[in-house]
Amino acid sequence: MLMAGIRLGCKHGHFMLLFLCIPRTPVAIGVVLPGASQGCWAGGYTYQRCCVGRERDCFPSEFGNRFDETTCCSAMVEAMGALEELGLPLASRAPSPAIGRCVEESLSHAEESLARNSFLSTLRCIASLQSVDVVLDAFLGGGFSLAAVAQGLDVPKSRRRPPSVFSFEKHKYLVDEALAPAGPVGDAWPTTVANLTVPDTEPSSNLVTLKEQLHSYQLSVIQAKSRAVHEDQRPEILIGHGLPYNLASLSGYQWNALDILCQHHAPVDLVVMDAEAALSQEWLIIETICMPRLVALFGVNIHGASSWIKNRLEMLNTWQLEAKGVVKLGSKPWKAMAEVRRLRAWALFSNLAADPP
Ligand SMILES: *[C@@H]1O[C@H](CO)[C@@H](O)[C@H](O)[C@H]1NC(C)=O
Repeated sequence: MLMAGIRLGCKHGHFMLLFLCIPRTPVAIGVVLPGASQGCWAGGYTYQRCCVGRERDCFPSEFGNRFDETTCCSAMVEAMGALEELGLPLASRAPSPAIGRCVEESLSHAEESLARNSFLSTLRCIASLQSVDVVLDAFLGGGFSLAAVAQGLDVPKSRRRPPSVFSFEKHKYLVDEALAPAGPVGDAWPTTVANLTVPDTEPSSNLVTLKEQLHSYQLSVIQAKSRAVHEDQRPEILIGHGLPYNLASLSGYQWNALDILCQHHAPVDLVVMDAEAALSQEWLIIETICMPRLVALFGVNIHGASSWIKNRLEMLNTWQLEAKGVVKLGSKPWKAMAEVRRLRAWALFSNLAADPP
């Protein structure tokens, strides 16, 4: 009786899992269905039952690693089999007037404390555009870019999807500082922190722990897109504490949080990359599975950050540079060689394969 009552609670095309209504179409349009070409979905096994519903008999041990979450639930494994060589160059298009207005506006407010730099104020403005609902701020760091996009999303506007900001952060103290009452994000928006950290000890049990954490992360990711959509909706924030892509296995690709996030929320309207690490794997997953419509890169002039991603987007024929700017960290030259890192350039690209913003 209870079950029947619960089932009535979900609208058509949804099913109930742990008291959540989950849409029956698991993967966004344009993304491959994980596991399809790997032979996972035969004999009644489905993505829905095995990757979302976690039915116990899905990955029987007699098959070893032939069928598991990595093979059957990762969008990247499926997509890598279908990657194509670059096609014909896509025709460039006129620069987006909406983005142009955001850049102009941000320069005129550059002295305000909140818009302390042209990158953050441009981000805030872009997040307020009607075509932006879902943002991945790839690394939380100090939390300033996340706060900027959350503020932008937090304006009443007609929406296509529930406003959501996703982020990852390896260091717990940075998460705590960003979310502290006086921190840049504070408690202004409903925020979930998902634990994606496995202890260093006991390597064999770590894989089980990691899978548990990823399944639980996936539920939060699905829940974020299952909310009803309305105009004056507040953005919700989901921060994965830990690594977006787990490097524990050297033998190849492994089911990971970034793949999960991307397969459920593609196309992501805006991806912000501000990191000092190389991030090759992470970027390839974002590019292939998240299919971002806009990409904002910070620190494109300094070694070790996202400069190589800028070069990659300029080389590929599907991206267009929409805006760029410079943020000064300090108004006077830094002492000696550190000066090379004082000015930080940023660049904003739009995906020519997606609708213009
Ligand atoms: C995250 O999960 C791991 C493994 O269960 C646990 O050891 C650790 O204490 C958790 N961390 C936090 C911050 O809850």
